[in-house]
Amino acid sequence: MAATTTCEICGGSGWRVIERDGISAAARCSCQQVVRAGAALLAAQIPPLYENASIDNFLLPANNPIAENAMGKVLLDVRAFIRNFPATDKPGLLFIGDPGVGKTHLAVAVLRALLERGFDGLFFDYQNLLERIRSSYDPMAGSSDREAYRSVLEAEVLLLDDLGAHRVSDWVEDTVTSIVTWRCNHRKPTLVTTNLADADAGSTVVQKSDTGRMEYRDTLGQRIGSRARSRLFEMCRVIKMPQVDDYRIRGSRSSGSLFGKGA
Ligand SMILES: Nc1ncnc2c1ncn2[C@@H]1O[C@H](COP(=O)(O)OP(=O)(O)O)[C@@H](O)[C@H]1O
Ligand SMILES: [Mg+2]
Ligand SMILES: [Zn+2]
Repeated sequence: MAATTTCEICGGSGWRVIERDGISAAARCSCQQVVRAGAALLAAQIPPLYENASIDNFLLPANNPIAENAMGKVLLDVRAFIRNFPATDKPGLLFIGDPGVGKTHLAVAVLRALLERGFDGLFFDYQNLLERIRSSYDPMAGSSDREAYRSVLEAEVLLLDDLGAHRVSDWVEDTVTSIVTWRCNHRKPTLVTTNLADADAGSTVVQKSDTGRMEYRDTLGQRIGSRARSRLFEMCRVIKMPQVDDYRIRGSRSSGSLFGKGA
């Protein structure tokens, strides 16, 4: 990047001279946009596992036409969100679906696309966030823990990954409610992923257990409370991920045969 190669336009100064009505003036060089986007990418703290996750390397399930079709629709929705941002009908996306179907991959892909467009963003894992907030109550906590809560409120675009992956307590419910409510009230773009079921998002709430008994799955509302849940639906367009086999398991087999076509 800029540190190793010198810009041919501005010679590294970050400024170039433009002529307007016969008068020359300084203008920011286009290379500065690249530098800014690079800095924003670092600041977003996307985990290394998802460093390269993009829409372009998201593969459609090639062995299952129904899932392929449904995933194709998901990609259309996601692409439309990116294209229209920030003038989207709702300021956020809520990815709902089973583990390993690519929710985090797609959410990161959206975040990265927005970072490239010059927006600032922040990736936060839900569990990690709660731990950081909890430890911030400790008087010995470092300032970075105290910043965690503030930073998720204020992030221009927030990706909250794996929402609800934690058992309930009143404290958790209040914290999540206040974050979601604050972001919703301020129309702050928020991308959320969750494995939890929600009947309104078309999940099957009753499923067969390994022993063959029917059992109820924990729902989003149970884990984060009904107030946070309803604000989330208000703020986010729901992206229901189709059922495909866990990509992590599939991917480790002869790769490319089951997930084939590029998106
Ligand atoms: N359709 C896909 N194409 C390419 N990689 C995928 C796809 N789905 C998932 N992955 C990869 O598989 C891993 C698990 O996906 P992830 O997004 O973490 O699933 P989820 O968040 O739904 O549990 C990640 O490394 C992700 O990049
Ligand atoms: Mg995930
Ligand atoms: Zn330059």
